Amino acid sequence: MGSAHINADPGAFADTVLLPGDPCRAQHIASTLLDDAVEVTDVRNMLGFTGGWRGMRVSVMGTGMGIPSMLIYATELARHHGVRRFVRLGTCGAIAPELDLGSIVVAIGAGTDSRVNRIRFRDYDFPATASWPLLERLMRTARERKQAVNVGNVFSSDHFYHPDPELRKTLARLGFLAIEMETAGLYGMAGELGIQALAVLAVSDKFDRPGGMSTEQRETGLDDMTRLVLDAMAADE
Ligand code: HPA
Repeated sequence: MGSAHINADPGAFADTVLLPGDPCRAQHIASTLLDDAVEVTDVRNMLGFTGGWRGMRVSVMGTGMGIPSMLIYATELARHHGVRRFVRLGTCGAIAPELDLGSIVVAIGAGTDSRVNRIRFRDYDFPATASWPLLERLMRTARERKQAVNVGNVFSSDHFYHPDPELRKTLARLGFLAIEMETAGLYGMAGELGIQALAVLAVSDKFDRPGGMSTEQRETGLDDMTRLVLDAMAADE
């Protein structure tokens, strides 16, 4: 028995779920990185898998693009499938000039042009922030591996093709590192449901350099970042 958009058996998901946008990336992570991964859901081809990493049971599932799609899956995972920790494994467009293709961005907080958190919070401004225990784990593991990560704010937009030509300049002036489409919604949901969430993003687009990562790079080129996240989640407290 599953939920509306996830046809997994009870207990099929681990406590910790990695959330790439692309279900093909979920399949790639399951088949190339996880031990003994099994497919646990396939509704609309939004594939989810559960397997192992260094003795930890862990799941990985695609979310689709944008806050509404991601929130359908993450909310059902938390409400109906027992999930307590989410790490979004995404891509983003660089706003800070020092970021290069492949740079890792860890979202300590997320601004947004979406109204989802205002709808949750009586039209007040919700502080969409990462969960400290996950952020701390990630940073400890990154330091141990001497892995450079960029920690700061991201902007989660409902528009990939944003109609405001000045937006990127404004985001740069206010110190945002990157733009993407899901994190503020994930952090708001985690706040409401009392669970943990973190977004770790690879820069896939540089606006001063048309082209960005190829589809294949987007799908498979994120393995280092995924290993960092898996090691962080599996590390002892
Ligand atoms: N904009 C919004 N979201 C994104 C981008 C972008 O350029 N690149 C990857 N996700």
